[in-house]
Amino acid sequence: MFSFFKRAVKPQNSFEFIGVDMHNHLTPGIDDGSPDVATSMQLMEGMMQLGFKSFISTPHVISDVHPNTPQTITSAWKTLQQSVQEAQWPVRMGVAAEYMLNYDFDGLLANDELLTFGKKQVLIEMSYAVESPNLKEAIFALLTKGYKPILAHPERYNYYHRRFGIYEEITDFGCELQINLLSLGGYYGKAVKNVAQKLIDKKLINWLGTDLHHTRHLDALVKLSNNRKALEYCKKIKGLRNPGISI
Ligand SMILES: [Fe+2]
Repeated sequence: MFSFFKRAVKPQNSFEFIGVDMHNHLTPGIDDGSPDVATSMQLMEGMMQLGFKSFISTPHVISDVHPNTPQTITSAWKTLQQSVQEAQWPVRMGVAAEYMLNYDFDGLLANDELLTFGKKQVLIEMSYAVESPNLKEAIFALLTKGYKPILAHPERYNYYHRRFGIYEEITDFGCELQINLLSLGGYYGKAVKNVAQKLIDKKLINWLGTDLHHTRHLDALVKLSNNRKALEYCKKIKGLRNPGISI
């Protein structure tokens, strides 16, 4: 009699070449990511097994939904940092934020209330339902003040899928693009995967992030670490900036 067992997927150091995950929601209890320090530690441990050695946590800043400030973010992040230090894990940790381009963003920028990483890199995002009307103005204003904007998960903005030229316009304008690793495994659907691949083919991507929120994302990343085609796509990115970024 034959038995069929689902082969356990073992984590590997598949993502070691990325080095720094500069987009995740590991900071506990302040957005829709990890709810507490214990969960953050569990998630981080899983990511370490996948090869990540450095983490820049980027909690959402979305007025009315996740009205975080540099103070709320830094304070929550320090609780995680302390726990990691006590566990003596050999990782480097930084913190920034993921800013929604809504009506409040101009005020934050005007007051320089932005958390950045690297060399004044700022992670920005838009709603998945509707484009931010101030996208180009915000990019221009950020650049004018010496910030380096990075648009998070451009492949997930479905309203751009039939307007692919907008991605070239944005990058020509001076904004870099970060795709989510899970997009390449089809986690968000086939259309998103296709656009992620096309963005890499067109050499429009400089950053990779996990955008990890919870254990389902971690499980999907473990599976992705065994997906040779997805890994090949990641390695096609010539100007990947993650490894060289300072924390
Ligand atoms: Fe995110």
